[in-house]
Formats: sequence, structure tokens, C-alpha cells
Amino acid sequence: MAKACGKIILFGEHAVVYNRPGIALPVLTYFTEISAYDSKEFSCCGDRVLDDDEKIKLNQLIEFVFSELKLKNNVHLHLESSLPISSGLGSSASLAISLIREVNNYFKLDLSKQEINELAFRCEKIFHGNPSGIDNTVITYEKPIYYNKDFKFIKLKKPLYFVIANTGKKPDTKTIVSELKFKYDNDKEKYNQIFQEIEEITNNAKTALENHDLNLIGNLMNKNHKLLQELGVSSPMLDLFCEISLQNNAYGAKLSGAGKGGNMIALVDEKNKDNLIKELSHISKEVFSICVRPTNLNSILKY
Ligand code: PMV
Repeated sequence: MAKACGKIILFGEHAVVYNRPGIALPVLTYFTEISAYDSKEFSCCGDRVLDDDEKIKLNQLIEFVFSELKLKNNVHLHLESSLPISSGLGSSASLAISLIREVNNYFKLDLSKQEINELAFRCEKIFHGNPSGIDNTVITYEKPIYYNKDFKFIKLKKPLYFVIANTGKKPDTKTIVSELKFKYDNDKEKYNQIFQEIEEITNNAKTALENHDLNLIGNLMNKNHKLLQELGVSSPMLDLFCEISLQNNAYGAKLSGAGKGGNMIALVDEKNKDNLIKELSHISKEVFSICVRPTNLNSILKY
């Protein structure tokens, strides 16, 4: 059995596709889990049934991984997932990484983390067209990262608490990224200026995270959200979630991931999280909190 966690993008989504830095955090409370057995059949368990589109994507992913590793697919794979698919918590990268890790274990391939990450990146290309690589990297290494093609770990001093609210609308990352590329190609000056501002925010956020400066992190999240609005990737519901979060003592709030749906994340004090969850629950069906702890210690996941 092999597991892979989820993730949130804290700063720099979209800009990271244009070779600007991004910051992502692992979400170790939700995960995808795959087990391989000896016969050829795919089965899926857990609390939800996959729709046809998801099944097709899964089969494509499995075929791709086996063919890239030059293996014959003669195993039975069993999937369990507590990560909502297409919710912005990195379900596609998490699925790819749990699959690669399990195939690695089962066939005793001895792949390194770097090799797993590189193959997961190629898997991401199937579904996202032009991924930055931030999702597969943070999920492979399970630590906060500052990512700019290459990456550095960010050492947190203390736990960070976030409230996450889902809009209920699945973001189509591939389409949103290619729509933005179209706009970028028609006005490079405007979009490079926005990406430059996001880059500065992300760089300042790295230091703020290392210093556990919650006010500054929150402030930078708000600024990043405004720039994402200017990129045209927010939505009225995401903006409303942010407003409600700020009215309820969040340090900062922004959309996370591709946008136009998916999740809003708000940085909060632990003591304020339950109240914010209650307020957001009036308009979102899925609101929960996560805690991202300093991960300088060994990972809590076994694979
Ligand atoms: O939709 P998500 O949560 O996988 O996030 C996509 C983030 C983008 O920056 C928009 C795309 C990318 O590949 O980094």
C-alpha cells in the first residue's frame, strides 16, 4: 500500500506557470492510497463513486505509468481516497504519486524521490497540458516549498491554521491556464507586470513564513488575491468567501489553485477557526480546517 498527501498553493499560482516562484504547502490529513494485488482489475473504494470521466482519466493514468516504466499491467489496483477529486487539493498529482509509489514498491523498482517526482510531472502533463510542477513536487516531498522549477524547502517555526471553503465548482485547470495564456499572448506587458507583482509578494511571503509573521502572511495573501482577480481567475463566490473570512478575523484570504471555482483558503488563529467554519457553512457545502505543521521531522506518511 502506498499513500500520497494533498496540497494547497499558498502563493503564486498561475504566475508559477510563467517561471515565477510559487509557494505550496502539503496537506497531510487527506490522502490517496493505492494497493496493488496479483490480478488485473481496477477497483475503487471509499466514500464516493467515480464518475465516467474520472474513470477514463484514471485508466489513462494507469496505462501511462505502466508504459513509462516499461511494465506489463498485470496487477489489481485498489484505490481509497479521502481527497476530493478536482477540488484544488491536488488530487490528480496525489493520485499519480500514490500510484507510482505503489508500483515502485510492488515491482521493487527502487525509484528515487526525484524519479517519482519527474514521472508524476509527466503524468500531470496528460491532464493539465502545461503544468508548472509545483503540485507534484510538494506532494512528493511533503514539505512546504518555494518552487521555481527548482525548489527549496521552507522551514516553518510553528503550525499554521487554515480554513478552506469549497465553491462546489470543479476548476478545469487545463482550460483556465490556456485561457490565461491566450490573454497573456495578447497583452504581455500587462500580464508580465501582474506576474512581477505576484513574484514580489511570493518572495516576501517566504520570509514571512520563515518568521511566522501571520499579519504579514495574511496581508500578502489579500494582495495576491487582488492580483488573481486582475488575472480574471477569481469568481464572485471566491470573493465572497474571502470577504466573510476577513470579517471573521482571518489574517488573510485568497483563492488557491487554478481558480474560477475550487477552494478559498483563509489563514486563521486556531481559536477562530470554528467560528469561521460556521459562518462559511451557510454558503459552502464543504468547509474544513487544516493545520500545516513544521515538517522538519520525518514525514508522517509511510510508503
Ligand atoms: O488546479 P490546481 O490546484 O492544480 O492548481 C493549478 C495551479 C496553476 O498555477 C494554475 C497551474 C500550475 O500548473 O501550477
